[in-house]
Amino acid sequence: MKKVKTTKIEFICLGNICRSPAADAIMKSRVAEAGLGDRLLVESAGIGPWHVGQLPDKRMRRHGAARGYNINHIARQFNAEYDFREFDYIVVMDDDNYSYIRRQARSDSERKKVLRMADFFERYKGRESVPDPYYGGDADFELALDLIEDGCRGLLKAFADNRL
Ligand code: 4NP
Repeated sequence: MKKVKTTKIEFICLGNICRSPAADAIMKSRVAEAGLGDRLLVESAGIGPWHVGQLPDKRMRRHGAARGYNINHIARQFNAEYDFREFDYIVVMDDDNYSYIRRQARSDSERKKVLRMADFFERYKGRESVPDPYYGGDADFELALDLIEDGCRGLLKAFADNRL
């Protein structure tokens, strides 16, 4: 049997309970629909330690479920040593995440792994981040999901076109 290379993508946000677990669930769902489960592996992590071991925020779980996603990742904290070794791409939600993760990189090849979700927006091209909905309301969670769906679509397209 032909061996296929597996590409590993990790989504990052601040707490790993709102945006990145949503991206994780949405991307997994897109990857499964595309029949690429053996070629693309998806994970997520947060920059802060506060919610490690917890299920995602109830509001994000509820808004995601209304769109058919089961957002059930157990929060973990980004670990530069492990995560830069383990993942081919680290996709961050906003510029604060980007600067923090880039600062943790120890080489150019690690720095090159860090990508912004916003770089894959199509419908929302021109927006610069997936803003943190944690201190917001329903509309902020809906916007985060719209942006994440858009970014995941673009990311999958980039992968399929060999642009990743
Ligand atoms: P996330 O949202 O980064 O999208 O998971 C947040 C969740 C928790 C906190 C901040 C942002 N917090 O400060 O606890």
